[in-house]
Amino acid sequence: MPETLAIFGGTKAVPDGLMKPWPPITDNDRKMVLAALDSNAHTVGPNYTELEKEFAAWLGARHAVFCNSGTAALHMALVGCECGCGDEVIVPAYTWPSSCTCCLHHNVIPVFVDIDWDTMNIDPAKIEAAITRRTKAIITVHLHGLSADVGRILAIARKHKLRVIEDCCQAHGTTHGGKPVGTIGDCAAFSCNQNKIHCSGEGGFFVSNDDAIFERGKTLWYFGEHRRPDTGTDYKAYGMGWMYRSSELVAAFARAQLARLNDYLPQIKANAQRLTECLAGTPNLILPVTPPGHGHNFYNYTIRFDMDALGHADDAARFRDRLLKALQAEGVDTSVWQGWPVPEMTAIAARNAYGRGCPWKCTRTKVDYALDQFPVAIRHCNWHTGMTTPLRPPNTPRLAEAVAAGIRKVLANADQVDKIE
Ligand SMILES: Cc1ncc(COP(=O)(O)O)c(C=O)c1O
Repeated sequence: MPETLAIFGGTKAVPDGLMKPWPPITDNDRKMVLAALDSNAHTVGPNYTELEKEFAAWLGARHAVFCNSGTAALHMALVGCECGCGDEVIVPAYTWPSSCTCCLHHNVIPVFVDIDWDTMNIDPAKIEAAITRRTKAIITVHLHGLSADVGRILAIARKHKLRVIEDCCQAHGTTHGGKPVGTIGDCAAFSCNQNKIHCSGEGGFFVSNDDAIFERGKTLWYFGEHRRPDTGTDYKAYGMGWMYRSSELVAAFARAQLARLNDYLPQIKANAQRLTECLAGTPNLILPVTPPGHGHNFYNYTIRFDMDALGHADDAARFRDRLLKALQAEGVDTSVWQGWPVPEMTAIAARNAYGRGCPWKCTRTKVDYALDQFPVAIRHCNWHTGMTTPLRPPNTPRLAEAVAAGIRKVLANADQVDKIE
C-alpha cells in the first residue's frame, strides 16, 4: 500500500520529540565544570593534567597531550613524524579536509589515494602506486568509526620506511585486529568536538607510543616551548610553534565525558545493530559493512542508495538530495557528511592553500589531482547519507526502529520523491 510521505502531508515516521540531543549532560558534568570555574587555574590545571593521563590510560597509549582540536593534533602528528617542506604524504581522497590541510600548514604536499567502496577508507591496494622517493608518511583515517585496513597499511609503510599517522577523530573505541586504533601506527589524532563520541565541545588529543615523535609534535602545542605552563616557561621558541592548548574548563568537561565513554560505546553499537536488523533487505539500500578483523564504533551510520537500481545513475546527487528532504520531513535526522572528495575542494583544486600557489609552487613536487583517479570517492559522495545523533545515547533502539521505518517508507515511495523540488 503506498503511503503519503510526510513531505506531502503524511504522518511522520519519527514523532517529534522522540530523538534526544547529544551528548547527555549529567550533574557530574555540571559539578566538574563549575568546580574548574571556581578554581584559580584556567589554563593548565589539575583537570588538564589528569585528563591527559586518563585518556592515555583509556586508550593504552604511552603519551597523550590535550589540545584544542583534532586538526591541531593532526598537525602535531605530521611534525612529530618529521614531515616538512617538499615531502609528500598520502591521504585518502575522501575524508575531512583537516586530514589534508594539516599537510599544507607545513608545506607538505598531499597525494590522494581513492577509497575502498565497502569500508569507505583508503584503499590499501592503491597505496603503493602513489609512493615516490619524497613520500614520508601515510595518513590513514578510520572514517565513520570503521577501522581502515591499518595492519596492511602499516606493512606497506614499513616496507617503504614511511610513518603511519592514524586519524582517529571519529574512532574512539574502534579496534583493528583486536587492538585499539590510535596505538597501531606511529602516532594518532583524536577529536572531542561537539559531535564526537568523546565530546568536550571542542578539543583533541595528540597521542603516541614513541617518545621522540611525541616530543617533536608537542613543540607545536605551546609557541614552540618545550616546557608546560604549569612547570614554568623558558620564554623561548625551540621550534616552530602554534598555540594549540585548550583550557581547564574544557578539560573538566572532557574528563566528565571520558568517565562515561565506555558506557556510551556499547549503547551506540546496540542502536546500530537494531537499525541494521530493521533495514536488512530494504530494496535499493546499501548498508554499512564491518569486514572481519575490522572494528566499528558507529560514529556515523552511513547508508548508500543504489542509484543504478533506482534508475538515477546520471543524476545521483540530485536524487539523493531529494531523498534527504523526504527523510528529514519524516523526522529522520540524517545528512550528507561530505559531498566532495578532498581534491575537489577549492583550496586543493586551485592549488592555492595560503596564497601565491604555495606550497605547490614553492617545491619541485608535481602532483596530479585529476578527479577521474577517484571514481569510488565520487560515487560515494553522490550516493550516501549518514546519521550520528539517532544512534547515540540516551537514544535507544526504539528510535532506531522509527528511523528504519522512515527510511523504508521513503524508499518504498520513491515515485513520490521524484516530485520533490
Ligand atoms: C576524520 C576527521 N579528521 C579530523 C577532524 C578534525 O577535528 P576537529 O574538528 O576537532 O578539528 C574531524 C572533525 O570533524 C574528522 O572527522
